Amino acid sequence: MQKSSTIGFIGAGNMAYALISGLVNNGFSTKNIKVSDTNKELLSLRKKEFNLEVFTDNAALAAKCDVVVLAVKPQVLSLVCKDLKESLNSNSLIVSIVAGIKSYDIGRWLGENKAIVRTMPNTPALLGQGITGLFANDNTSNEQKSLAESVLKSVGSCLWVNDEDMLDAVTALSGSGPAYLFLMMESMAQSGVALGLDEDTATKLSIQTALGASMMADQSADSLHELRAKVTSPNGTTQVAIESLQDQGFEIMVAHAMRAAFDRAKEIGSELGNDE
Ligand SMILES: NC(=O)c1ccc[n+]([C@@H]2O[C@H](COP(=O)([O-])OP(=O)(O)OC[C@H]3O[C@@H](n4cnc5c(N)ncnc54)[C@H](OP(=O)(O)O)[C@@H]3O)[C@@H](O)[C@H]2O)c1
Repeated sequence: MQKSSTIGFIGAGNMAYALISGLVNNGFSTKNIKVSDTNKELLSLRKKEFNLEVFTDNAALAAKCDVVVLAVKPQVLSLVCKDLKESLNSNSLIVSIVAGIKSYDIGRWLGENKAIVRTMPNTPALLGQGITGLFANDNTSNEQKSLAESVLKSVGSCLWVNDEDMLDAVTALSGSGPAYLFLMMESMAQSGVALGLDEDTATKLSIQTALGASMMADQSADSLHELRAKVTSPNGTTQVAIESLQDQGFEIMVAHAMRAAFDRAKEIGSELGNDE
């Protein structure tokens, strides 16, 4: 991590909080972190939490930073970018964590030849357990790529994609994925209650099972398929449950859900990226 770089966050919400916490936990000085937002109360909170410089003027923040992290909602991104156009330094690196909107459109709004790294983190970033897909446009140097990666690595793992469209696939898998797993855990807990467990016990069993299974999958040399086969004894309880899920089209349901998320990410990109 180039700890002398100055990093500015535009948008001080949940994801900015996660990234700032990650940077601070990794020894990055708050003197080199700045944040801007339209919400003054949130800015006061961030100042209190981290003792960093805060701005209500995005352009004033951008003029002081080597790296500008776009951490606003997609709907306001075009306005935010157009406001920054005159104030960015010529060698500034732009890191966008905004879902859907393409580096081409961000570049169009910011002006020519900007180094832009588009990223897709996920919410476990709040605990330093995220995973982020990254894509760099052609104007980004290797040094800037490693700088962007070091920011996102402060909240979990990183992986690069060479084709920007694949960020929509990352969005459909790991970006939206925590919610799919919460739904699975919720359904398992509810079904446990239906079988007679009390709610607290069923919820605890469900969460710890997901946590333990994830840790096994992470640490084992076996594939996910092999791990499943190993816990599925012939004619046992797991086998009948898995067969019941598959008979009802579990894999097809997951595939359809992820295709819908992928298509929606593309739609958001075209709807909100069209802005002149
Ligand atoms: N949360 C996730 O799991 C996740 C995962 C991956 C990527 N992302 C992306 O990360 C981005 C931020 O998400 P988030 O969950 O951190 O959102 P958030 O908590 O709503 O934070 C965004 C902040 O930006 C502020 N804002 C609005 N207009 C602004 C402007 N013109 N200038 C400066 N600040 C402005 C908002 O203020 P107001 O609330 O007053 O409008 C809010 O405080 C989104 O684009 C999202 O797609 C999120």
